[in-house]
Amino acid sequence: MPLEGTLVVLREEHREDQKLLAALRNDLATQAWGRALPPDYTEEMHVKRFESLEFSYDRTSARFIIVEKASGETAGLVSYTGEQRRLSASIGIIVARPFWGTGVAYDAQETLLRFLFDELGLREVHLWTHTGLPKAIGLAERSGFGVCIRLREAVFKFGGLFDSVVMSLLREDYYARHPELTDRMPRVEE
Ligand SMILES: CC(C)(COP(=O)(O)OP(=O)(O)OC[C@H]1O[C@@H](n2cnc3c(N)ncnc32)[C@H](O)[C@@H]1OP(=O)(O)O)[C@@H](O)C(=O)NCCC(=O)NCCS
Repeated sequence: MPLEGTLVVLREEHREDQKLLAALRNDLATQAWGRALPPDYTEEMHVKRFESLEFSYDRTSARFIIVEKASGETAGLVSYTGEQRRLSASIGIIVARPFWGTGVAYDAQETLLRFLFDELGLREVHLWTHTGLPKAIGLAERSGFGVCIRLREAVFKFGGLFDSVVMSLLREDYYARHPELTDRMPRVEE
């Protein structure tokens, strides 16, 4: 069953999604890497990656396709990687340009965060981005993330130098922002 948000559902990846994922990777505005990747990724390359995924009960990462409920259209991808059990994980998000500014990205991010904190029981979630992506920073801030590491002028992109930043969100801050949820695994004070 997909993860259910307000505007979106997050579902598993399908073979048919690989065309969109290759297109997002080949768009310099949506590929979202601190160093530009050459825009020559093919659908076949993405299909190979997709088909190499193995079944496992011991996963430390996941990729979800963002589907806008109202239209049924696929809007992008949201993921987590490097999960350390009950501790932390890193997240990433890419949304196709027609869905920018629609609230789809925020709802997808919040839906993933709820899974990470309320189902996986993580203590901390973080993401890597850079100051050349003000929308990415704004989106993270809207969910409560704050900059915790800044590598000054460590990224060259869009023809200029930008700071590479890590932004993090602690479990207690997540639940403080969500009074409708109860943290059943609160931190033990010393
Ligand atoms: C990052 C991304 C998912 C954001 O989705 P979006 O729909 O474009 O985001 P929004 O338009 O809702 O903007 C997000 C926030 O940033 C703010 N923002 C937007 N443009 C801004 C700018 N130029 N300067 C400062 N803040 C800005 C918005 O005000 C909003 O905050 P608010 O909701 O509190 O007002 C989307 O732009 C995207 O996929 N970009 C390419 C991939 C990427 O950068 N991924 C993240 C890499 S870590």
